[in-house]
Amino acid sequence: MADYDKVFAESVQNPEAFWATAAAELDWYQTWNTVLDASNPPFYRWFSGGLMNTCYNAVDRHVAGGRGDQVAIIYDSPVTDTIATITYRQLQDHVARLAGALQKIGVTKGDTVIIYMPMIPEAAYAMLACARIGAIHSVVFGGFAANELAIRINHAQPKVLITASGAIEGKKTLAYKPIVDEAATIAEHKFEHCIVYQRPFVHADLQDGRDLDWNQIVADAPAADCVPLDATDPLYILYTSGTTGMPKGVLRDNGGHAVALNWTMKAIYNIDAGDVFWSASDVGWVVGHSYIVYGPLLKGATTIMYEGKPIGTPDAGAFWRVISQHRVKSLFTAPTAFRAIKKEDPNGTFIGKYDLSCFEALYLAGERLDPDTYFWAAKLLQVPVIDHWWQTETGWAIAANCRGIEELPIKPGSPTKAAPGYDVRIVDFEGKEVGPNVEGNIVVKLPLPPGTLVTLWRNDQRFVESYMNTFPGYYETSDGGYIDEDGYIYVMGRMDDVINIAGHRLSTGAMEEIIATHPDIAECAVIGTEDALKGQVPVGLFVLKAGVDRDVEEIKAELVKMVRDKIGPIACFRESSAVARLPKTRSGKILRGTMRSIAAGKQYRTPSTIDDPAILDEITETLKDMGHRRAN
Ligand code: COA
Ligand code: AMP
Repeated sequence: MADYDKVFAESVQNPEAFWATAAAELDWYQTWNTVLDASNPPFYRWFSGGLMNTCYNAVDRHVAGGRGDQVAIIYDSPVTDTIATITYRQLQDHVARLAGALQKIGVTKGDTVIIYMPMIPEAAYAMLACARIGAIHSVVFGGFAANELAIRINHAQPKVLITASGAIEGKKTLAYKPIVDEAATIAEHKFEHCIVYQRPFVHADLQDGRDLDWNQIVADAPAADCVPLDATDPLYILYTSGTTGMPKGVLRDNGGHAVALNWTMKAIYNIDAGDVFWSASDVGWVVGHSYIVYGPLLKGATTIMYEGKPIGTPDAGAFWRVISQHRVKSLFTAPTAFRAIKKEDPNGTFIGKYDLSCFEALYLAGERLDPDTYFWAAKLLQVPVIDHWWQTETGWAIAANCRGIEELPIKPGSPTKAAPGYDVRIVDFEGKEVGPNVEGNIVVKLPLPPGTLVTLWRNDQRFVESYMNTFPGYYETSDGGYIDEDGYIYVMGRMDDVINIAGHRLSTGAMEEIIATHPDIAECAVIGTEDALKGQVPVGLFVLKAGVDRDVEEIKAELVKMVRDKIGPIACFRESSAVARLPKTRSGKILRGTMRSIAAGKQYRTPSTIDDPAILDEITETLKDMGHRRAN
């Protein structure tokens, strides 16, 4: 049997032995009683009875093991013209003192802490400091507006919020503190303290009593030790878009997460301790959690925190400069970043300016890797370009070409085969498994491997309803696709109202909820349409209330502002159109799926329950016009 086949078979036939071997690579205060507790499906628990600490394994273990002087984090910030290195020993000191400061203000095991920070090392210190003392962090992406932050504050109920005074995003200077203050005003839940890291280019005003200066509290704090935690204790909550305005709080445990991520570094990314790994994402997304912070540090590798963009900081050669300067072995980013570089530098002239001899492989995920981008990157870089498929929920790849086990031939358009641990199947809407090359729902037979979501924070019911009920015994990925005769998986896209904008996951339902509050609008639908750069962008269709006689362009501008103010600029909601009616079933349900197919130029069947089929022609014309406008 080939290596991949053998490892995969072991992982699904005897998951307990497989993951126990992987767990032995980490340090435990006490070994687990059970590798997999399957007594209460679909709530599976990994390494019950085991005691460990994620921060210890990601930081202190390496110092104790002789890697104290190795660089743990390279901070590369073209926007502030800074490059700094932090060794594992320095990281331990920063993290332990921040953890001590958190303890001093009353944060203890089980408390929640929201982190709203840009791509600076202090964001990683904050995450690790929470992990060190058993506090549960929830990082909120900086591109979200005050309202979205407030939604997360209300749900996570943090004792403390950690932020920075601001960020430089491309060429814009953004102040974060006013957003935090506004969110604090909107939210019903009141956090006790806000720790603010002041950056030199933007000053945050501190509110007496509540706000604390990062440098001051850290200077006075004792270094805190790692607290032994149950493997099943929560490590973090990461909110991700569902189909409504209320995001889902994906909950990750400590033990299973550390075991799985440490294992993936070699198996999937072929990274050993001491190698330089770069994930060009943001700590606010799952890729940032797993592969900027936890994965590389658990492995003892060097990770890069890059505060810049693929283009414009200063040019389309930025990625090659970072790879060359820091001797990066593998880069992980979203296809959008490569489409942006390709647009600016189609012939790859910047690549030739740098010595990329250190560079071994490019990993792409977060959205579909279109064949054009795949071929462009593979031809110019002359390294394997690895598409891999995963979700916030899974925390690591469901399908990948596991180069650290065996490099399989690449089939463009496919993220290769199921990663060990994931028993991936395709089922029809009745839950019946279909044969090779037949499209259906992609599901994973339970149990999921360690490191995947254990539940949704404070909402077991939504966890079961969202992922486990439709196909009993299987995890529903909400992606559609097929598996070919060789076992290669093809992911065709979401089956629900979640869209993928520049590798960021957003909910059209959340945008609809905002637009529906406009006083002139009777009803609306937001759907994702294809975009050459960002993969997908949202567009809105709305019906005006009877008697509204205003300039439609003005209303459209108001909608753009509303979505920007409530969700944030990251929603990229820029276009909408007034229509006379929306297509509906006779029972009044808006036919979003049909509109999605029209927008994607896909074949669709007119639903037999449609109220008035003629309306689909009008919608098709409107969406076509919007597409032309965007293209020009
Ligand atoms: N804080 C505040 N605002 C942010 C932000 C942050 N951290 N990140 C993005 N934004 C803002 C941008 O400034 C922009 O605002 P604007 O409408 O006022 O211009 C808006 O959100 C949209 O941002 P973005 O989607 O990043 O578009 P862009 O045009 O600025 O850049 C790319 C385009 C392709 C360069 C960019 O999307 C990119 O780097 N993509 C890589 C994707 C990626 O890393 N995905 C992570 C998952 S792996
Ligand atoms: P997120 O939770 O933000 O990581 O988004 C997860 C969704 O992004 C998945 O459900 C897919 O729809 C999409 N996605 C991620 N990676 C890929 C990939 N390699 N190919 C196709 N779609 C992907």
